[in-house]
Amino acid sequence: MDNGQLIEWDDRYSVGIELIDEQHRELASQMNNLWLGCQKGGQEEKFFFDVNIQPLLRYMSYHFSSEERMLERIKYPDLAAHVQQHSDMMRIIAEGVGHIQQEEPSALLSGNRLSDFAAHLRDTLISHIIVMDKKYVSYIHFVNRKLGTYVMETTLPTELFIG
Ligand SMILES: [Fe+2]
Ligand SMILES: [Fe+2]
Repeated sequence: MDNGQLIEWDDRYSVGIELIDEQHRELASQMNNLWLGCQKGGQEEKFFFDVNIQPLLRYMSYHFSSEERMLERIKYPDLAAHVQQHSDMMRIIAEGVGHIQQEEPSALLSGNRLSDFAAHLRDTLISHIIVMDKKYVSYIHFVNRKLGTYVMETTLPTELFIG
């Protein structure tokens, strides 16, 4: 991925579960928005970052919880590792935001600190989707084959059906 580009949503990022794909698309769109706003320069850029970063982190946390609830429900064997990666990401990002908010605005705005941070946030999320989220998709396919459609329909939430 290139810091100088927006995320173009791509089928490669799709996990094939509508609910999750929708949340991933929404996250990508908020991250594009943050990255674009961080090109404004000067105080305006800092203001934009401050206003938008917390809602984005809240949405990220909401998405991680929905995904974890879904994985619990299907008894995903790698749930603990997945939850750990979500929580590591949230902690590292929150620390990064904390550092940014303590910096002198003049130091912050002299480089590309905010847009670099936004690009890093976006790349972290996309890598997680491509590697970790794709792993549970393989497991869902496996469960589908093993249990058959009838059992799936009566035991699993409808959002898990892969077309
Ligand atoms: Fe995800
Ligand atoms: Fe995830």
